[in-house]
Amino acid sequence: MMLEENISLKQLTTFGCDEIGRYFTRITTAAALTEAINWCDEKHLPFLVIGTGSNILFTKPFEGLILKMGITGINKTNETATDVFLTVGAGENWHHFVSYCVQKSWGGIENLSLIPGTVGASPIQNIGAYGVEVQECIESVTAFDTHTKTWITLNNNQCAFGYRNSLFKKEKNRYLITTVQFVLKKQAQLRTDYGSIKEKLHEKNIKNPSLADLSNAIIQIRTSKLPDPATLGNAGSFFKNPSINKINFEKLKLKFPEMIAYPISDDTYKLAAGWLIEDCGWKGVRKGNVGCFDKQSLVLVNYGQATGKEIYDFSEEIIQSVLAKFDVLLEREVNIL
Ligand code: EPU
Repeated sequence: MMLEENISLKQLTTFGCDEIGRYFTRITTAAALTEAINWCDEKHLPFLVIGTGSNILFTKPFEGLILKMGITGINKTNETATDVFLTVGAGENWHHFVSYCVQKSWGGIENLSLIPGTVGASPIQNIGAYGVEVQECIESVTAFDTHTKTWITLNNNQCAFGYRNSLFKKEKNRYLITTVQFVLKKQAQLRTDYGSIKEKLHEKNIKNPSLADLSNAIIQIRTSKLPDPATLGNAGSFFKNPSINKINFEKLKLKFPEMIAYPISDDTYKLAAGWLIEDCGWKGVRKGNVGCFDKQSLVLVNYGQATGKEIYDFSEEIIQSVLAKFDVLLEREVNIL
């Protein structure tokens, strides 16, 4: 095992905060993964698997071993008249995988174009955008179970997917994902019902979009709304959209008629956290090195030198002000360490 010691985590996360990691290694095989975990067990050290670090905020030094997941490969394992089955390494770049499938005309994940991160991270928070969640295309997930020390393959049901949630998130750090099995469609049913997609396709005068048209439209929408981590440190949506029951929703809607919300069941509404934060006056606000992004207030940005603690404290101020005004408690979507 090639170990590095006391490394800066600045380049390893998209927030770009300069914390220290005690030990670091790159993982390119399943065997290397178990070797690294055994080493941590012997030394009684914590471990953390990271992909592109696009959903993590380090608020203090990490005193264990960071494993950079580098298991790659996109392999077609089966094919029927309608479906394509793929096994993909956890370390593959997510957008690279989406582009590969779009190019092959395999449909299902095109709405998830340009989401930062790796394939292995995609089931953990069940990434989603523009009306699609990755769970819809996942057949199974293969992982090392660090509790039982066995390799397991969990089917879609066993992954217990929910909105930005899964078994892997609930039992944090227990399952270390090495490959994800996807099933994609040869004749894709395009999902263009999301408002901003409709507008973009209309603007480009595209009436019968191809997979590539849809993917390109989404890339343009995301690029115009979300900051590029290469130029401005961020981790996408910092908060989740909260759900509340119908009674509370109706009370709030009376008080704040402009509030944006969507019913997700007979009794539950999802509120647009971006709207709540904007309405509290945070959109575009900068405090020192941290800010609330001016085009999408769910996103917090690092203007260069922010520490993880500064970003965390700023997010706490936002949570408290939303709570005071709307009596709604925002949850962080980003993993805080
Ligand atoms: N809105 C505001 N102010 C804002 C931001 C949004 O009023 O500052 C309003 C918008 O006008 C819109 C509604 O809130 O009516 C929803 O906004 P948007 O379509 O931008 O989506 P979102 O709910 O803010 C979610 C995901 C994003 C994903 C988009 C598009 C979460 C936490 N975020 O954001 O995911 O790209 O939908 O599907 O669910 C991410 O997870 O990192 C991420 C970027």
